[in-house]
Amino acid sequence: MTVYHLSTECYPIAKVGGLADVVGALPKYQNKIKGVDAKVVMPWYNKPFVHEHEFDTVFDGFIHQDGNMLQVQVFKEKTNVLGFELYMVKIPGLLDRDNPYGYEDESYQFLAFQHGVLHWLSAMQIRPDVLHCHDYHTGLVPFMIENCPEFRFLKGVKTIGTIHNGEYQGMMSWEMATVLPSFDSYKWGMMDWNGLINPLASMIKCATAFTTVSQGYLEELFVSFRGLESLVRDEFGKAYGIINGIDTEVWNPQTDPMLDFNFTIKNVIEQKKKNKEKLCKEYGLKPELPLFAFIGRFATEKGADFLPDVVWRSIKQSYGGLNIMILGSGNEYIENKLKEYDYTYTNFALDLGYKEHLSHKIYASADFLLMPSRVEPCGLNQMYSMKYGTIPIVRYTGGLRDTVEDISTGGAGINFTYPGVDDILHAMDRALSIYPQKDVMDKLVHANMNFDFAWEKSAEKYIALYNN
Ligand code: ADP
Ligand code: GLC
Repeated sequence: MTVYHLSTECYPIAKVGGLADVVGALPKYQNKIKGVDAKVVMPWYNKPFVHEHEFDTVFDGFIHQDGNMLQVQVFKEKTNVLGFELYMVKIPGLLDRDNPYGYEDESYQFLAFQHGVLHWLSAMQIRPDVLHCHDYHTGLVPFMIENCPEFRFLKGVKTIGTIHNGEYQGMMSWEMATVLPSFDSYKWGMMDWNGLINPLASMIKCATAFTTVSQGYLEELFVSFRGLESLVRDEFGKAYGIINGIDTEVWNPQTDPMLDFNFTIKNVIEQKKKNKEKLCKEYGLKPELPLFAFIGRFATEKGADFLPDVVWRSIKQSYGGLNIMILGSGNEYIENKLKEYDYTYTNFALDLGYKEHLSHKIYASADFLLMPSRVEPCGLNQMYSMKYGTIPIVRYTGGLRDTVEDISTGGAGINFTYPGVDDILHAMDRALSIYPQKDVMDKLVHANMNFDFAWEKSAEKYIALYNN
């Protein structure tokens, strides 16, 4: 069975968030299953990976977009170094950028990617068994293969659409219809939602089946999905919630080269302490006090807007009895507020930016990881933290409620229900009351590390779905 994963991100080539981690791992684990040949197709980016590896040109052709002729080249990485065949699609001016997102003409960029991939596959008469589309950036593919004459060779190919984040739907005005490959115009309704072209809605309508990255999130979409609630209810018959795993070849505290002190479950307590001491020293924190951490995008969906108040209030309320460390970037107001507190409070450390190495060190050093997300389709941070012996404190939502059980019901994490500063502080208080009880803490650390988040099970679930 050949499966093509289409995605704008893939670790370690281009990562903005968890989408990259999933697309960099899932195909690798699927390829361990007999009879499966999973590949990744992504845009070409001007990233170190493409300059450090050798590629073959497997396609060189043209597409027409809005009257312009665009060159499409497809490069295949020579050695399958990532555990799968990797294809990168280059279109000068659109798919040759430094980063996946953040450009004014993103709609053109993602349309060109979808058009370019389908043109290449059709022209080369490559007919996969499954096209697996990730997020809205590839959401129009299921529509296009059924309704664009240019891709008639692919008609009937089965498609899976995975929703990693329903907050982003890629809506555009119908004026953009001229930028699309030409399509049977009477089918326009299969792309429309409330008078706009909505790629995520179209994916839900047209894909053979669609998935969310946790069962909990799927259930939440019925009541909160930025206007698509009724659509997801209508299409529920082909919806599946499959939880993400973690790539234990990358996220393994025993072998992780990014850690100062590696560890296993046997020596985690001593080694974690050493990691924490080193990190605290570097950032001027106090290693004898509990360390709470947050890693992530400063977006409201992550509850990052609570962080400034959480910082000052928790430090004040505990009389300086804790450390907080934050790694991330995003909303400017949040960044500035946190910078201010970074100057004010010695118990608080801030590192602005995207730093893969530092994130690993923090997972290995912190006592508690905060995830006050308003929305969390799956969440990988809590899983990484657990694997690295850090106790997650999470809002009870989406994938977080599927993966973190509260200590009060026999779990090894802390849950809270409402997204708000008071509830976060209350959850932190609960953590502070456990912290001095060394036996309890050690037990929780071990229990978290023992949790099984391996990709194998979820990779099997996707294969079963494809077979279906
Ligand atoms: P999302 O994809 O919504 O941002 P996830 O929890 O699925 O959330 O994945 C986030 C991923 O990005 C994790 O691998 C996390 O470690 C990483 N990450 C987020 N922010 C940063 C940062 N500032 N520096 C390094 N890694 C980060
Ligand atoms: C999205 C979600 C996150 C999920 C990730 C990978 O970015 O916000 O919760 O873990 O995709 O599926």
